[in-house]
Amino acid sequence: MERKFKNLCSPLVVGRTVLRNRMCSAPMGGTDIANDGCIGDKSKGFYELRAKGGAAVVTVSECMVHPATDGSHAYHLDESILNSLAQATYCADAIKRHGAIPSLELSHSGMFAGTYMTDKKKQKSMHQWGPSDTVRNDGVEVKALTKDMIREIVEAYGHVAGLAKRAGFELLMVHGGHGWLINQFLSPMFNHRTDEYGGSLENRCRLAIEVLKAVREAVGPFFPIEFRMSGDEFVPEGYHLEEGIEIAKMIEPYCDIIHVSAGTYQKTFGITHPSMFEEHGRNVYLAAEIKKHVSKPVSTLGGLNDPAQLEEIIASGKADLVYMGRALLADPYLPQKVMENRDDEIVRCLRCFTCMAERAATSTRRCTVNPVIGRELEGDRVYPAPVKKKVMVAGGGPGGLYAAYTAALRGHDVTLYEKESEVGGILKSEQALPFKKEMYQLSLTYKLFCEKAGVKIVLNTPVTKELCEKENPDALIIATGSTPIVPPLPGIDKCVIVNNYYLEKEKVGDDVVVLGGGLAGCECAIHLGQEGKKVHLVEMRDVLAPDANVRHRPLLLKEIDRYVTVHTGLRGLRISDEGVWCADKDNNEVLVPGTSVICALGQRSTNVNDLLDGAPYVRVIGDASRVSTITNAVYQGYHAALDI
Ligand SMILES: Cc1cc2nc3c(=O)[nH]c(=O)nc-3n(C[C@H](O)[C@H](O)[C@H](O)COP(=O)(O)O)c2cc1C
Repeated sequence: MERKFKNLCSPLVVGRTVLRNRMCSAPMGGTDIANDGCIGDKSKGFYELRAKGGAAVVTVSECMVHPATDGSHAYHLDESILNSLAQATYCADAIKRHGAIPSLELSHSGMFAGTYMTDKKKQKSMHQWGPSDTVRNDGVEVKALTKDMIREIVEAYGHVAGLAKRAGFELLMVHGGHGWLINQFLSPMFNHRTDEYGGSLENRCRLAIEVLKAVREAVGPFFPIEFRMSGDEFVPEGYHLEEGIEIAKMIEPYCDIIHVSAGTYQKTFGITHPSMFEEHGRNVYLAAEIKKHVSKPVSTLGGLNDPAQLEEIIASGKADLVYMGRALLADPYLPQKVMENRDDEIVRCLRCFTCMAERAATSTRRCTVNPVIGRELEGDRVYPAPVKKKVMVAGGGPGGLYAAYTAALRGHDVTLYEKESEVGGILKSEQALPFKKEMYQLSLTYKLFCEKAGVKIVLNTPVTKELCEKENPDALIIATGSTPIVPPLPGIDKCVIVNNYYLEKEKVGDDVVVLGGGLAGCECAIHLGQEGKKVHLVEMRDVLAPDANVRHRPLLLKEIDRYVTVHTGLRGLRISDEGVWCADKDNNEVLVPGTSVICALGQRSTNVNDLLDGAPYVRVIGDASRVSTITNAVYQGYHAALDI
């Protein structure tokens, strides 16, 4: 068989370890940790699926090496904890049995201990130890580690590495990036020591090298060690690529793979985890540059999800391995689909940060486009239903498409009715915003899934009571979504409704007022600003996009700052040729100027009362049930189809 992405699919030999291809699963830990710090069964299921999905390496993260001075990434590997080794062994085994290399990330969060705790009080009540005495931005005092403590931590890395090997891990990733302890020592931003651990680059690299030596001593000569570093910290006080190259050169003799990430969790979150406002692969150049100066294999990552781009990275020698985090949350089978030339079936990550926001909120896993994430033990395969039923799905948005696809996989006779001439629902409007192109693409991918699974798609046909009576289905899934809220303001007919912007783009001139500062309004305003238009955004509340998730929102607001003039606390009164007349809090009339107006005032569920008796089994999902997120629609669609 000829593989379409030859280089990406080719094995890589590191010492005596063979990686089956070049696509690896990045560490994505900090969730589903058992109360005693063991790797719980849910996590094991999560990691196992990444191996089943074809990744060459599956990295289990983050194992805290020295709990006495740390307290953030709460996995432990500690023989004094009942089951600690057993659970780690089961986990490594679950990865290995699908042909992947199990890797464990060893970490210490240093002065940022507490960051991942969902209990906000605990975030501040830990003992925070770092390279130097300081006070964190959140007011927490940090104490400088003594040399004795450093020695203890180094020994702990070795001890835990030995346990990891005993548990069956076949690769270890030492975390030296993203602002955690080893990075804190490498960085002039955090490290102000005057002893042999601070000052010169050689001194700042000392801790990293001592750790790598301790790990090597514990695991022996042929066991691969990967060092994760930030190629550039992207803040003036930190180090930059030139020093990143020097760090890589100093570290190289003590490890087998140099893993080049970027930035710090605390200061450059949207670069370390490139947001939808960043280019895909915006950090690859760091690895490419470092690779020119070292001879060991180099890995890269950051916002990668397109096999053609991944292939180019490997083929052109920018890196030897590509890691993916979020792309494999969205589709754990991405590597397998690449291997089988089924890249058109990849469900792309939207970079919406639902994964990271859910982690911050509840320490569980959630992904907008992958309904089984974190629930892998409940099974990710869809099995045929005992009895074939006639299923009608009303509405071809993301929830309806996913429901129809899942029902068809179960062997049902499924027809999806869409009232418009194209499926996609609300996602269709995203095609106009380049930074949200994956959201539109999602509807095309789900449509493809439906077609492959045998769903009949009937366009231009709304589901009515009469249609249900005529078709007489056994099951009806109502996924009719929501409609835009358009208040009866004088002149509102002059507006372009945000959902229709993709169809009416040419109606929008160079001076625009966007009415409504929710997520849709903000994102549209940013896009218009990026297109060089003068954009005013009007919002009645005092805050913008309060419903945006905690990770996406700050990055969204940063883009708003760059491109948009914001007017909060203003209520729209009427629309005229000069702009939008609004009332401020004291009821004074104010004109927000603009020749075009976009209305983004939210959505309202469609009325589905007529359809509730349309079949013996009826389920209302997604926005039709309650206006919410794509995450909700997809998750409910999947389960509505499983329940038939
Ligand atoms: C939900 C989630 C959890 C993460 N947890 C860790 C972690 O425990 N350790 C770590 O080194 N990086 C962690 N990361 C960062 C990823 O390993 C990766 O560097 C980052 O997401 C950029 O890659 P991506 O764009 O492919 O997602 C996490 C990322 C995500 C999305």
